[in-house]
Amino acid sequence: EVLNPAPQDLAGKRIVITAGPTHEPIDPVRFIGNRSSGKMGIALAGEAARRGAAVTLVLGPTSLDVPCGVECVRVQTAAEMLQAALSAFQTADAAICAAAVADYTPAAPADHKLKKANERLDRIELVETVDILAELSRQKGERCVIGFAAETDNVVEYAERKLARKGCDVIIANDVSRTDSGFGTDTNKAWIVSTTGTQELPVLTKPQLADTILDLLQKL
Ligand code: CTP
Ligand code: CA
Repeated sequence: EVLNPAPQDLAGKRIVITAGPTHEPIDPVRFIGNRSSGKMGIALAGEAARRGAAVTLVLGPTSLDVPCGVECVRVQTAAEMLQAALSAFQTADAAICAAAVADYTPAAPADHKLKKANERLDRIELVETVDILAELSRQKGERCVIGFAAETDNVVEYAERKLARKGCDVIIANDVSRTDSGFGTDTNKAWIVSTTGTQELPVLTKPQLADTILDLLQKL
């Protein structure tokens, strides 16, 4: 670090980053979740802070450490993540949504542990969660909002549709079908998808991909 200090090219910028999975309670014991580790979003937060940004990391349940110099708001559910992200975004210059937010949440979580013998556990009524990335994009004005797309197939095509649907500036399309990319891995295979075109990236470590994304953010 002393020999190779980070450029302070994000000094004075406030960036909101969502990361990790969310857990949607079925009852006090059970939840709906996903395979996200939070590694990509935590790498983004660490690199952005190293480059001088004031970072608010809105982080779902994970056991990974929060990088030093990063303000972290811990959340469990998609609803909590939405509130924290919206609140931090009010005074921010940009947002990056790296979280794997649960798409559905139980409509009426039980306040006691459900018993499999006599309570309905085979049919759980679900309601769709709010799309945090789309909501931040609606409120962004001139600010930059970057999202991710986790795909197993038709990676670029699905990411292009998400870019249009959500109204963000860029989608980082992430192939989660490979052993060297996606949930829990240390590397990612990604494409940068924007309205000006699509750029394929080589397999990069998550900190390397984070720096590439921050270079792009800096340019925008
Ligand atoms: N996202 C979000 N809030 C949600 C769902 C998704 O902010 N409720 C964000 C993610 O953080 C990511 C982007 O939207 O930046 C794409 O998430 P992804 O799960 O790939 O896409 P979805 O739109 O949820 O569609 P699907 O899961 O069906 O592919
Ligand atoms: Ca989803």
